[in-house]
Amino acid sequence: MAALVVRPSGPLEGSVTVSGAKNSVLKLLAATVLAPGRYRLHNVPDIADVAWMSDLLVAMGMQTSRPSPGELVVDAPDELVPEAPYELVEKMRASIVVLGPLLARFGRARVSLPGGDDFGSRPIDMHLEALRTLGASIELAHGFVEARADRLRGARIGLDFPSVGATENAMMAAVLAEGTTVIDNAAREPEIVDLAAFLNRMGAVVRFAGSSTIEIDGVRELHPVEHTLIPDRIETATYLAAVGIAGGEITIAGARPDHMDLLVHKLGQMGMRISPCNEGLWAMAPRRLSAVDVSTLPYPGLATDYKPLLVAMLSVADGVAIVTENIFSGRFRYVDELVRMGADVRTDGHHAIVRGREWLSGAPVRAHDIRAGAAVVLAGLRAQGETTVTDAEHIDRGYERFVEKLRGLGADIERT
Ligand code: EPU
Repeated sequence: MAALVVRPSGPLEGSVTVSGAKNSVLKLLAATVLAPGRYRLHNVPDIADVAWMSDLLVAMGMQTSRPSPGELVVDAPDELVPEAPYELVEKMRASIVVLGPLLARFGRARVSLPGGDDFGSRPIDMHLEALRTLGASIELAHGFVEARADRLRGARIGLDFPSVGATENAMMAAVLAEGTTVIDNAAREPEIVDLAAFLNRMGAVVRFAGSSTIEIDGVRELHPVEHTLIPDRIETATYLAAVGIAGGEITIAGARPDHMDLLVHKLGQMGMRISPCNEGLWAMAPRRLSAVDVSTLPYPGLATDYKPLLVAMLSVADGVAIVTENIFSGRFRYVDELVRMGADVRTDGHHAIVRGREWLSGAPVRAHDIRAGAAVVLAGLRAQGETTVTDAEHIDRGYERFVEKLRGLGADIERT
């Protein structure tokens, strides 16, 4: 079991380079089942989730390799086993996005049903409903989704909520369907735009029509491509939160501020100065931030993934803030860990009230998931004594060289 030990640090200074977006590469890898041949992806982070997604592709009959840092090559043969086994889906829920592309290409797919997780219940009803609308017959049996369709037919899909995963599954199914598909109330995160760019490069016809409608003209076949991933906006937010908590002045090389307008605005209200620069993004934070209320929403709203980072920042800011979670009902579990570190946070349903303290106090705590794990590590930068974060494997799922990057900014952190 990996643990990270963090001690009070700051002010942080220097430059950190952001890696490619985890939530983009996982979907692009799923899209490689749409056409045989060799794919070459650049700016791919070396993280556990990418390794697991590669394992899933290999289990289906593909080959993957890492010829150089940041590069991932996928060789897809003509025939694949269109199945995602329990052992792999259970490790990583995002593997459910192979359902749409497998069905579109092979006319059948068998994918294990993902279970719940630390965010609470995470249903896939909208994924299945979207595929049914495209003409798939879907059965749930023995813990698996079994989907069939001779050829999917384009249709109008209306999502009840702009779910990222359901939008992606529907897009990857529709690109090979007969006729035109319209997805209303679609998600529009930068990772969705990256997936659309990847699919279009493969020969698909995907258009953004208006703010939340995606139109797709189905084509007969697609071809493999080379593609460079967008930077990870949640990783960028993590280093912004680090400097927000510890104070200092840093540069985040490779960041795309245009993917995170609202967060930059919010952090500005808290007292940080952030601006685009040649390398990416420059940020400066005073010794202590001011509290502001935050509320999560689908993109372009404030991402739910930023929230644990914001709660960690608010727990050492000056003042009281109300934090509202509108995406995942159970996404406050890490608060108990922050409270063990002396944070004054009360949760009630979808809300948390955070009363900022000048200092937290170092304690043994757990990483419940990727972002919650990062948040408690960052809180440790402003906690007297030593904070030991166990179950740090969760952090490795989504962050490339997390400890090294933070140390590069002057943080006192080590892996044990
Ligand atoms: N939902 C349903 N039914 C569905 C699908 C979703 O009710 O069929 C609900 C969910 O329970 C949730 C809401 O809709 O309440 C939004 O879920 P969404 O489908 O958008 O999430 P996701 O696709 O499962 C992705 C990211 C998450 C990120 C959310 C933000 C990946 C691999 N994961 O999850 O990222 O928090 O979008 O909406 O892209 C992370 O990176 O650590 C992470 C958890």
